[in-house]
Amino acid sequence: MSDLLAVSDLSVCFGDRAAARDVSFVMGRERVGIVGESGAGKSMLGRAIMGLLPPGAAMTGRVRFDGADFSPEMRGKRIALVLQDPRFSLNPAMPVGAQIAEVLRAHRSLSARNAETEALRLLDAVRIRDAEQVYRRYPHQLSGGMGQRAMIAMMLAPDPDLLIADEPTSALDASVAGGILSLLDAEVARRGMGILLISHDLDLVATFCDRVMVMKDGEIVETLPARDLAAAQHSYTRQLLAARLKLEA
Ligand SMILES: Nc1ncnc2c1ncn2[C@@H]1O[C@H](COP(=O)(O)OP(=O)(O)OP(=O)(O)O)[C@@H](O)[C@H]1O
Ligand SMILES: [Mg+2]
Repeated sequence: MSDLLAVSDLSVCFGDRAAARDVSFVMGRERVGIVGESGAGKSMLGRAIMGLLPPGAAMTGRVRFDGADFSPEMRGKRIALVLQDPRFSLNPAMPVGAQIAEVLRAHRSLSARNAETEALRLLDAVRIRDAEQVYRRYPHQLSGGMGQRAMIAMMLAPDPDLLIADEPTSALDASVAGGILSLLDAEVARRGMGILLISHDLDLVATFCDRVMVMKDGEIVETLPARDLAAAQHSYTRQLLAARLKLEA
């Protein structure tokens, strides 16, 4: 069986500065975390996999998805990306419910009425209270946390095989974040979706993921089972763990 995602020698450069350097890894329908300090290149790696880099970024290397070279047609439908900042993913000129319904009609060929019902169900599933009302709101009428949840609903709408989630719960309080992670967990279990979870939160990744990749200055310096994270031996990973304890103290 081919891997769900195979990344080889992926580099992202801004001029002569590398944001990601010779990154290679494979993953299946599992939960893989990427951790590393701010600026390590986590977001650029996630965006490079989707071919969605900011202007000025040059990418080299190869991304294969489910046995084929990545192509832009896979975007959204088979691989979805939850961006760190939802404001860049939601269309400001359209109510959120209509956006989700549009995705459902396009990718899952639902009728208008069924798309609306399913969009409401998704908003409810991402723990949005009063989904009926939020359905009709424009993105600027949502709080940051609500926008993040609306985006997660939109990204799950086409039933992707792989979800790349860049700090998907950073704007949410702990109980809502926990609810979103259980929802993602259920999707992994229900139909074998793969998740690449980018997060600076080592505890969250240790609890939620199967494996963790540790990124430093654009490179993956260590990959380990998530349950072994707290006992990691690599000096950089130990530094990250120590920094976390300092913040908690
Ligand atoms: N548009 C850009 N132009 C130039 N350099 C950029 C741009 N976006 C990111 N970079 C650089 O790429 C490197 C990696 O950035 P990236 O956003 O991937 O970090 P990150 O690990 O996601 O950090 P954070 O945890 O803060 O989100 C950084 O050094 C950053 O300065
Ligand atoms: Mg980032």
